[in-house]
Amino acid sequence: MERLRIQGGRPLCGELQVQGSKNSALPILAACAVTGRTAILHHCPELRDTAAAMRILRWIGCEARREGDTVFVCSQTPHRFDIPETLMREMRSSIIFLGALLGRFGKAELSAPGGCAIGLRPIDLHLSALEALGVHTAEIGGRLCCTAPQGLHGAGITLAFPSVGATENILLCAVCAAGETVIRNAAREPEISDLAAFLNGSGARIEGAGTDTITVIPQPEFRNSEFDIMPDRIMAATYMAASAVTGGELLLHRAAPQHLLPVLPLFEQAGCYIRIQKDTLRLRAPQRLQRVRPVRTMPYPGFPTDFQASAMVMAALAHGTSVFLETIFECRYKHVPELVRMGAHITVQNNVAVVEGVPQLHGASVQAADLRGGAALVTAGLAAEGETTVSCIGHIDRGCERFEQNLASLGAEIYREHTDVE
Ligand code: UD1
Repeated sequence: MERLRIQGGRPLCGELQVQGSKNSALPILAACAVTGRTAILHHCPELRDTAAAMRILRWIGCEARREGDTVFVCSQTPHRFDIPETLMREMRSSIIFLGALLGRFGKAELSAPGGCAIGLRPIDLHLSALEALGVHTAEIGGRLCCTAPQGLHGAGITLAFPSVGATENILLCAVCAAGETVIRNAAREPEISDLAAFLNGSGARIEGAGTDTITVIPQPEFRNSEFDIMPDRIMAATYMAASAVTGGELLLHRAAPQHLLPVLPLFEQAGCYIRIQKDTLRLRAPQRLQRVRPVRTMPYPGFPTDFQASAMVMAALAHGTSVFLETIFECRYKHVPELVRMGAHITVQNNVAVVEGVPQLHGASVQAADLRGGAALVTAGLAAEGETTVSCIGHIDRGCERFEQNLASLGAEIYREHTDVE
């Protein structure tokens, strides 16, 4: 087992290049299986989740290899349309292979996906949308067996909620369907636009990605492609928060500031100086952060649920009281009891958290329960007085590339240690 050991209290100052986006890389890796061609993906982050996606690609018969931050996938030869439970359990996003396998083979067999314990995360929206494209779904012995006996056909689909994963699954399947598909109330996250851009670069024709209405126009064939995966907006914001709570100064390169618009007001309300120049973002923290206006997590372009935990660490150290409302996932306050162990004053009732800022957190032994909550505990440890150890860091490794190395390069005192017990 491994854990992170942090000596807090050092301001994080310096420059960093933002990693490629996990949430963009995963559906794009799945999309590689659809095209039957070769894809070269630059800025593909080296993470537990991307490694799991590459294992799934190899299992179904694709070639997938990494050289540095570039991943090469050749999908001319896949021969399997089933994914074993062991591979499915490695990450929640494995469900994205459902649309990809259906698009490629017209059939798919897989089990319930794994991933973060942040809520129920049902897939009803995925399944009803795929059914509209001609897919029959059945659960046999705990496995989800899907076929398209009459072939895939385009459809008009209105999502009851703009689910990111459901929108991605529809795109992956619809690019192989006969006839046009129109998705209404589609997710508008930048990762959807990135997936559409990759598919379009591979020969598909998808219009409207980034808006709530996306049209997929069938095209006769795919082609080889080369693609640059977008910067990870959540990791950019996470490093900004780490610098902010330690009174630091940070220059982020490849920051894609346009994707950070939903979180920038929070940094400004907290008193951070933000300057954007093209693709770089500079942040300078005040001596003490200020309370922020109520934070309500919402689908993009609303405040991202994935940044709620780190934003709460900022509020926990701010002057004044801040309020959080989590509307996307039902179990997304698992970092709260751990922050309280570090001296934070936070009370939770249902999906509302009231955070009364304190001048100082103190080091403690805490446990990550999910990826973003785990990153937030590290952020808190960086600001806290004394030593913090964060265990169960496998969650953090799912999404944060070279996390402790990057933080150390900014002046943090943090290292990974192996232990016999977690
Ligand atoms: C994706 C992101 C995740 C982020 C989330 C919301 C990836 C790999 N993961 O997750 O980091 O936190 O978007 O921005 O991109 N829902 C249903 N039925 C469904 C599908 C979803 O009820 O069939 C509900 C979920 O339980 C949740 C909400 O819709 O309450 C949002 O889910 P969704 O947008 O699908 O998130 P993910 O794609 O799982």
